[in-house]
Amino acid sequence: MADSDSEPAMAFDVDTVFSQLKQTDKIALLSGIDFWHTHPIPAHNVPSVRFTDGPNGIRGTKFFAGVPAACLPCGTALGATWDKALLRKAGKLIGDECIAKGAHGWLGPTVNMQRSPLGGRGFESFSEDPHLAGTIAASMIIGCESTGIISTVKHFVGNDQEHERRAVDCLIAPRAFREVYLRPFQIVARDANPGALMTSYNKINGKHVVDNPELLQDLIRDEWKWDPLIVSDWYGTYTTIDAMVAGLDLEMPGVSRYRGKYIESAVQARLIKQSTIDARARRVLKFVHRASQVKVSEEEVGRDYPEDRALNRLVSSNAIVLLKNESSILPLPKTLKKIALIGSHVRTPQISGGGSATLLPYYTVSLHDAVTEAVPGATITHEVGAYAHSMLPAINSMLRNAIIQFYNEPPKVTDRKLLGIEHVKSATFQLMDYNEIPALNRGMFWGSLIGEFIPEATGTYDFGLTVFGTANLYLNDELIIENTTNQTRGTAFFGKGTVEKIGSKEMEAGKSYNIRIEFGSANTTTMETIGMVNFGGGAAHLGACLRMGREEMVQRAVDAAKEAEQTIICTGLSGEWESEGFDRPHMDLPPGIDEMISQVLAVAPNAVIVNQSGTPISMPWADQAKCIVQAWYGGNEAGHGMSDVLFGDVNPSGKLPLSWPVSVKHNPAYLNYASVGGRVLYGEDVYVGYKFYEKTDREVLFPFGHGLSYTTFALSSTEVRLDPEVFTPENPSVAVVKVKNTGAVSGQQVLQLYISAPTSPTPRPLKELHGFEKIMLQAGEEQEIRIPVDKYATSFWDEIESMWKSEAGTYEVLIGTSSQEILGTGKLVVPETRYWLGL
Ligand code: BGC
Repeated sequence: MADSDSEPAMAFDVDTVFSQLKQTDKIALLSGIDFWHTHPIPAHNVPSVRFTDGPNGIRGTKFFAGVPAACLPCGTALGATWDKALLRKAGKLIGDECIAKGAHGWLGPTVNMQRSPLGGRGFESFSEDPHLAGTIAASMIIGCESTGIISTVKHFVGNDQEHERRAVDCLIAPRAFREVYLRPFQIVARDANPGALMTSYNKINGKHVVDNPELLQDLIRDEWKWDPLIVSDWYGTYTTIDAMVAGLDLEMPGVSRYRGKYIESAVQARLIKQSTIDARARRVLKFVHRASQVKVSEEEVGRDYPEDRALNRLVSSNAIVLLKNESSILPLPKTLKKIALIGSHVRTPQISGGGSATLLPYYTVSLHDAVTEAVPGATITHEVGAYAHSMLPAINSMLRNAIIQFYNEPPKVTDRKLLGIEHVKSATFQLMDYNEIPALNRGMFWGSLIGEFIPEATGTYDFGLTVFGTANLYLNDELIIENTTNQTRGTAFFGKGTVEKIGSKEMEAGKSYNIRIEFGSANTTTMETIGMVNFGGGAAHLGACLRMGREEMVQRAVDAAKEAEQTIICTGLSGEWESEGFDRPHMDLPPGIDEMISQVLAVAPNAVIVNQSGTPISMPWADQAKCIVQAWYGGNEAGHGMSDVLFGDVNPSGKLPLSWPVSVKHNPAYLNYASVGGRVLYGEDVYVGYKFYEKTDREVLFPFGHGLSYTTFALSSTEVRLDPEVFTPENPSVAVVKVKNTGAVSGQQVLQLYISAPTSPTPRPLKELHGFEKIMLQAGEEQEIRIPVDKYATSFWDEIESMWKSEAGTYEVLIGTSSQEILGTGKLVVPETRYWLGL
């Protein structure tokens, strides 16, 4: 890689350069030049620096025909590790991947809150608990920034749902705002001090965050004394003057829609002060100065090293949560001779949720690959049992020799000029940031995907075509699907695509059929685009699937399970169901899967159920199943992660970072989710997640913090020692316990510290997480563990004084291995009430 590395830009001195900048340069600095880059000023050696998504892998500058990348498990999976040291390493991998992709700024991590299990981007965030989310995020940021890459923590603040995300007004009471939604940002500001912050799209209490000086200036810069570069979410700047005055430094992406000449005119009219322009431009310059100190690759390249794979595999397996393990079915012996692998996800591992988190992975490992590797002596049968796709699955392996040809004219122009060609391996493409062909008119262009389709089986194939733009599908020149007229909006492509249009054809296995998609870019769409952000370029997805009767599929799965010594069912959701752009309408698995699981369990009661999803799903078969494993979206190494846990190479140590409700109707945001009349009321107040379920005595399927192990742990005493017992903000305390691995194998445990304030006159959650430590103990080993307790542990946000208040009183300190499995308690005494502001 060394040859393609660029030298860090020639150092420039911020003050000197700033004093020499012309007004036009200053204004130019305030917005990007394209989708990912800041504005350079070559005359002063000020380079253009690059941002990239984010959050759990580094895509680089291209959604389409991008450079393959490492994909870490999704946010909730990372949250489930509860492992600060491991996530520092994961953060460093993110930084290294940025360097390989020529980027200086990582658009991550995401620290929004899971108010509801239905949030489209719930999988991207870490937890329903602000302490866990903030602490995990800080570790990743420190790891990433140790490479010189700058972290852009996002989305500040309240982007906790996707529905009407640019317009929705989140009505949040000050106490919940401070204690829950702002808290992870406050923790990272204090513990990691990331170099950048991305504003959210939404409003809070009547005002867009990006236009709100009380949040950007008064809170972040003045009260917290944190000075990140403040950058808008993509197309999330809505005003020229308000956003400038509020504190937004950089509008992204470029070219500018609200700055440039509009700023010039606002300055002339004295609607923006020169000092405001100077402050914002100087902040961008400072950011570019720091960012450009790191030596990044000139080309976007891969760096798929064995040690990265090993780390990713470790993170993937350490994130897996063993939810239920009756009769100790797991770990499975490697002496098994006949294994049935059933489910939609067995051969197609889900590595990430959808939207801007998606990327082209270096490789993926399926559960099928990993079990074949782990138990080479076994005969493995596989049945899908029930499909889990929303759109028909993308055709990858059945597509050969495929290219997309690009034109500035539609197909009816017979002598149109071919401007460029891209080779593709899949019939799904997103062209929003495609910029490879200079002559292509990005406003309006056409593409023809041509290739061969070679079916794997004989029978009727269903094809499904979804598009942002227009598209028709031809097989051997026969029109199979027309998606150019009568378009209806669906959820694909950030909510800009059509619903899927279906066509079908009888086909023979192994025969080659000419496939052709005639595609028109975003602006050829016949759907209304007013009121939504048109990312341009457009996108299409062609899927295909052998048509099979539901009953026949289930019967084949049941037969396979009957014949096997051990059955493993692996199914769940995917980036099609959990994605940026929309929220889930319910918590259920795709149609037919629950029924299939129940029928297989009826003949194979010891079947292990492995679920892949970013957030909770309903499990109507939970009582019937003896063994349930939550495997999240596991990144490149998803299959290895699962098989390492299933066969005991890794003792599971993941803990739920969110509560798992029995029913979607039980969740705290059930009555107040989605935008209604332009607003969403955060009516559960501070009682988010387990704080709600505990306070209302509502049973959950699996509690926050829960996760089983193949060994057992005990505290040497149920008394937790506090050192010191009398606590002041200046002299905080440490909880001290001795913990022992009382089982037969080594394993990791997460000791979770909760605080309860039973004597407080103020209504409070029954308990709140305020500390945790993950430890590794050999069988029989005992260790003393110290968990620090800070001033927030005894505090709440006082809405009358508008300050944090640590109330005098006696607090209980609870140490547990889940929010419901408390092993020891201690006492903490706060002698006098204190108020404060700041970090
Ligand atoms: C997302 C951000 C992302 C940005 C750039 C936006 O739609 O909300 O999280 O970083 O796009 O892709």
